Amino acid sequence: MSGETGTRSTVFVRRAGPGDVGPIMAIERACFPSPWPPGTISGDLRHPQAALYLLAEFDGKPAAYLGGWVYDVEFHLGSVATDAAHRGQGLAEILVLAALRHAAQTGLERTILEYRVSNLAAAALYNKIGFQKLRLRKHYYADNLEDAIEAKMGDLQAPETLTMLEEKLQAWQAQRGHELQLAEL
Ligand SMILES: CC(C)(COP(=O)(O)OP(=O)(O)OC[C@H]1O[C@@H](n2cnc3c(N)ncnc32)[C@H](O)[C@@H]1OP(=O)(O)O)[C@@H](O)C(=O)NCCC(=O)NCCS
Repeated sequence: MSGETGTRSTVFVRRAGPGDVGPIMAIERACFPSPWPPGTISGDLRHPQAALYLLAEFDGKPAAYLGGWVYDVEFHLGSVATDAAHRGQGLAEILVLAALRHAAQTGLERTILEYRVSNLAAAALYNKIGFQKLRLRKHYYADNLEDAIEAKMGDLQAPETLTMLEEKLQAWQAQRGHELQLAEL
C-alpha cells in the first residue's frame, strides 16, 4: 500500500530501451560494488535481439531492473537489482518471473545465472523462484575472487514449467497486493 494515500501502489514492468540507461545506471551504481560501465549497458539496450533488459517502476519511479543476454536457446540472467528504498516489495521477483516467462514464450530452453556465495538475498530469491543449483565456480568474481554459485532453470518449454510460472505470477499478486501492470515485452 502507498503510505501517503492509502491506495494500492502500482508496479509497472516494461522492457527497457536506450533512453533508460540513466535510471538503470543509477540502480546499478547503488546496488553493486563493481557496476557495469554505462557503455556496456547502453550497448546492450541498443541490441534487443541479443539482450533483455526490464525495468520495474514503483508508483511511476524506476526502482529495479533486470538485465541478461540471449545465447542461442539460453537466457543468461546477468543482473537483477532493486534500489534500497524499494526492497522487500517483490520487485526483483516480478522482474525475474517476467523475464522467465518471456524467455519461455520466445522459444528459449533454459535460464542460467550466477551469484556470489555470500549473497544470501540472491540465493533466497532464486530458490523461491525455483532455480536449481548446478555447481560452484571457484574465484569467479574478479574484484575479490569470491566463488559463485551457478544455478539453472531448465525445461522452459515444458508445459509444467509454464504452469509453474503462471502460478508464481498469481501468487506474487496475492502476496504483494500491488497493482501489477505487465507490458507486452
Ligand atoms: C537481491 C535483491 C535484488 C532483492 O531485491 P528485492 O526487490 O528486495 O527482492 P524481492 O522483494 O523481490 O524478494 C523476493 C524474495 O527474495 C528473497 N529475498 C529478497 N531479499 C532478501 C533478503 N534481504 N534476505 C533474505 N531473502 C531475501 C525472499 O525469498 C523474497 O521473498 P519473500 O518476500 O516472500 O520473503 C536486492 O537485495 C538487491 O538489489 N541486492 C543488490 C544486488 C544483488 O545482489 N542482486 C542479485 C545478484 S545479481
